[in-house]
Amino acid sequence: MSIPAPLYSGSSAGTAQPVPSAVMPLTPMIDIRGVVKIFKNAAGEFKVLKGLDLTIERGQFVSIVGKSGSGKSTLLNMITGIDHPTHGQVIVNGTDLYAGKNESSRSLWRGRNLGIVFQFFQLLPMLSLLENVMLPMDYARMYDFDERPKRAMQLLTLVGLEHQARKLPLAVSTGQQQLAAIARALSTDPPLLVADEPTGNLDSHSSDHIIELFDQLVREGKTVVMVTHDPSLTARTNRNIIISDGELISEAVAVALPLLHHREMLAVTKQAKSLKISPAQIILQRDVHVESFFIIARGVVEVILQGKNEEDVIVSRLNPGQYFGEVELLVGGMSIASVRAAADTAVELLALQRDDFHKLLKESPITEEALGRIARQRLQENKSINRQGLPQAGLGKNNNASSLA
Ligand SMILES: Nc1ncnc2c1ncn2[C@@H]1O[C@H](COP(=O)(O)OP(=O)(O)OP(=O)(O)O)[C@@H](O)[C@H]1O
Ligand SMILES: [Mg+2]
Repeated sequence: MSIPAPLYSGSSAGTAQPVPSAVMPLTPMIDIRGVVKIFKNAAGEFKVLKGLDLTIERGQFVSIVGKSGSGKSTLLNMITGIDHPTHGQVIVNGTDLYAGKNESSRSLWRGRNLGIVFQFFQLLPMLSLLENVMLPMDYARMYDFDERPKRAMQLLTLVGLEHQARKLPLAVSTGQQQLAAIARALSTDPPLLVADEPTGNLDSHSSDHIIELFDQLVREGKTVVMVTHDPSLTARTNRNIIISDGELISEAVAVALPLLHHREMLAVTKQAKSLKISPAQIILQRDVHVESFFIIARGVVEVILQGKNEEDVIVSRLNPGQYFGEVELLVGGMSIASVRAAADTAVELLALQRDDFHKLLKESPITEEALGRIARQRLQENKSINRQGLPQAGLGKNNNASSLA
């Protein structure tokens, strides 16, 4: 299965040509800066997005989750240009969507740059699947008139609907309608696909099929951003972004402390202080008081013990979403090892102060238990290293379960 190559029409005057990706600047696909969205009604003002910053690189498969009403669809509407932010900037595929663009130029831009998939498909009921898939090409005036049916057919073949092309939407299953909607979203060969709960209305078999298709599109170079309520789908994306009450949760916090409720993750995101560490810089010396719980947001840190000849031996490497400092905060005592940034990466840490850390664990006994288990494992490993000498290769097993890397 592969996406049909853009069928460039070449000759016809007034027909927009897709820009070959080779000449695209390597900017992020989506760059959201300080986005605030306020809805006003008779009852007053309601701030739905509270100052979001978010960058999504080209070629990523990103899921967005959050409770109902947290602002997921509003955020997607900012990215697609369907709605506009009250404050802030949204740059998609190198275009600043809200600077000097009116509704109609934004709508044309959308037709040429974005594929949008909704929960309820929104196929036109009186048109065949083939005609539905041709519509965006007509609207964006892309591809020669004669080539449009051929391209639509290729896309329906891509999603496995070549034998249903002449049928009306209601004559096929809901899973097939969504596949047709995806074919339609791809018809102008957009680099970005945005989907709002695309599997929300489908059985698990059809929903699996949709995710496989997204996966394939990402492998072929597209960027896919998908809102979903289904945790089994978020496991299959490169990044999972959580929005809580109009604010973004740090992805590192969500990976490090997955058992917290979203509001608790958000509290940690806000309380934690961001620290930037240069490559090879020492973060923590052995045998000092530890006053914070550290979550790695970016880069790699090395946990170090000293060998027989006082040489540094790396006993563990920790990646984004992993943490250190919990042993000392939970068990008490001085730091059990030194920690430094790896020689080849700058590191960003989120440091949660001792009091905030203990308050958090009081609120979430299940997190306390999980961290306690890791701390005990790490202590155990440390003891056995001290008894038996340092491992040759220098990599311990005491990483916490998951990482963003
Ligand atoms: N046009 C509007 N006018 C006023 N309030 C709105 C408008 N659109 C959305 N809201 C409010 O903004 C909040 C966020 O809505 P949004 O649709 O973005 O949530 P969501 O996370 O997509 O929820 P769901 O999971 O139910 O789809 C909700 O409280 C909603 O009522
Ligand atoms: Mg929604």
